[in-house]
Amino acid sequence: MFVDPVFRLHALGYHYPDGTPALQGITWQVSRGESWAVLGTNGSGKSTLLKILDALFLPTEGTLEIFGIPLDENTIKTKGLELHRRIGLLFQDPDVQLFSPTIFDDVAFGLRQLKEPAPQVTAKVNAILTEFRIDDVSEKMPFRISGGQKKKAALASVLVLEPEVLLLDEPTNDLDPRTKRWLIAKLTEFRERGGTLVVASHEVDVVFRLCEKALVLSEDHHVLFQGDTSYLQAHPELLEQANLL
Ligand SMILES: Nc1ncnc2c1ncn2[C@@H]1O[C@H](COP(=O)(O)OP(=O)(O)O)[C@@H](O)[C@H]1O
Ligand SMILES: [Mg+2]
Repeated sequence: MFVDPVFRLHALGYHYPDGTPALQGITWQVSRGESWAVLGTNGSGKSTLLKILDALFLPTEGTLEIFGIPLDENTIKTKGLELHRRIGLLFQDPDVQLFSPTIFDDVAFGLRQLKEPAPQVTAKVNAILTEFRIDDVSEKMPFRISGGQKKKAALASVLVLEPEVLLLDEPTNDLDPRTKRWLIAKLTEFRERGGTLVVASHEVDVVFRLCEKALVLSEDHHVLFQGDTSYLQAHPELLEQANLL
């Protein structure tokens, strides 16, 4: 079978500038159309890994290829905008993602950066706000809306660019049950349309419903397991070892 690599990591490591280790010796591949859970306890390195996959940080050890292209400072400079169109990251905290005067402007931000014509931007933004049922808060300031609406607006600002790859950091944390079900349905739809999904979480039950594969990080930032989620479900001792059960 032909596999089309989206991310290829070889012995990838990351240390923060203050020397804190966040990832060590990660060798992993994500192919087009796959759905991966990144599981690990608090501090294991999940958020750092997603930021690296989104080309926000460069690895400090090892290598990362995105769509077959080695990631380095030059790639970020010349292809950064294109990568950010093709790969969307939903941050754990929607307040990081929403920074414009209105929700409309936040959802329009990426399209405007890509210099799409204004009438097209308006049409796309209105369509997704209506689809997500947050069109009534379109002109509101981000800090004047509820947590669930913020999450929807943040996801709209990512999905409006029609990314091929969606990275989500603890997407269901702090969501009420209805918004959680809505989000899981949206992500399932994205996956069924051929999208590539990487979901970081420590909520094992949620990602087991969404993802066919799982990468489990240990507390000391190494890969503890990678493979089918069905195998992981049958081997709870691995989850215990990762301090997830
Ligand atoms: N900006 C930072 N500076 C220094 N250390 C950090 C920073 N952000 C995260 N870390 C550390 O890196 C490790 C991995 O963090 P993170 O990727 O946020 O883990 P997770 O998302 O799995 O909870 C932790 O030890 C954390 O304290
Ligand atoms: Mg995190």
